[in-house]
Amino acid sequence: MDMTTSLVDHSFRKDVRRCFEQQTYAIPARWLYDRRGSELFEEITELPEYYPTRTETQLLKANGPAFAASVGPNRAVIEFGSGSSVKTPHLLKAIDPAAYVPIDISGEFLEHSASLLQAEFPDLPIYPVEADFMKRVALPEAVADMPKLGFFPGSTIGNMIARTSVDLLRFMRETLGEGAQLLIGIDRIKDIQTLIDAYDDAAGVTAQFSLNLLHRINRELDGDIPCDKFRHVAVWNDLYARVEIYLEAQADVRFSIDGHVHEMVQGQKIHIENSHKYGLRDARLMLRAGGWTPLHEWSDEQDHFTLMLVEAHPLKYAP
Ligand code: AVI
Repeated sequence: MDMTTSLVDHSFRKDVRRCFEQQTYAIPARWLYDRRGSELFEEITELPEYYPTRTETQLLKANGPAFAASVGPNRAVIEFGSGSSVKTPHLLKAIDPAAYVPIDISGEFLEHSASLLQAEFPDLPIYPVEADFMKRVALPEAVADMPKLGFFPGSTIGNMIARTSVDLLRFMRETLGEGAQLLIGIDRIKDIQTLIDAYDDAAGVTAQFSLNLLHRINRELDGDIPCDKFRHVAVWNDLYARVEIYLEAQADVRFSIDGHVHEMVQGQKIHIENSHKYGLRDARLMLRAGGWTPLHEWSDEQDHFTLMLVEAHPLKYAP
């Protein structure tokens, strides 16, 4: 067994045990993305109800000249959590960068998407970095002296609670350095039904995505959870301005994981994901708390999604 696999196994097991043994009934959302989960997420991005991917891609396509004017040429573009890098070509075409550095925790994904991009941009130097972008990342020497543009699309920041998102923004500032810019995708607060539909689609793909977590526990941690006795639930929490995703037991259930027996009663829920939504002022405050000064914003006509360009200014204190 390779080192990465055993480390993942270990922390997955630890998080799942905490959920059921310490009865927190919460599992971090990152465990949704095994191979099957990542495939299902790709399907989600194409659903009619799931507006974020489509809207953000349209914003990237439509605003090329404005990005070019605000960002300027010859920056190193550093993408955080690049995954399949599907939105990246729109940005790269618009701004004429000097280099591209995709950062992802999955080396396999990284190599594949880097080679696809290299074929599309044969003259662009690409330096993939396999790393956890939730911490400070050491960038390749080759881009050390280049002005930087961080790219964090997909409203991934929405899956973090406020404290974690501010920590991440601070790490990004440390990684990119003073004077850097960051282009970040922010999902906006909108009418509740649109939000709920986006996280509870008619075809049931999002439900499959959530339930895959229980299948994953059964597959990887020797479990026998009766997955068909759970249902996916998406609710809007107005106090926290977020969609919360739960798996709810539809009957009293008894199952074992790793040789430990657990019971849940009908109606009991496991909290598996948050997707925070932002007003423009909320998002600006979060970015400023993370050390970033707002520069420009691009939104769709319905104000469903916003791309924000921010800059790492030297810190100034009030007199
Ligand atoms: C990856 N992330 C931004 C998605 C979101 O919209 O919060 C994850 C997701 N979960 C269910 N549907 C989409």
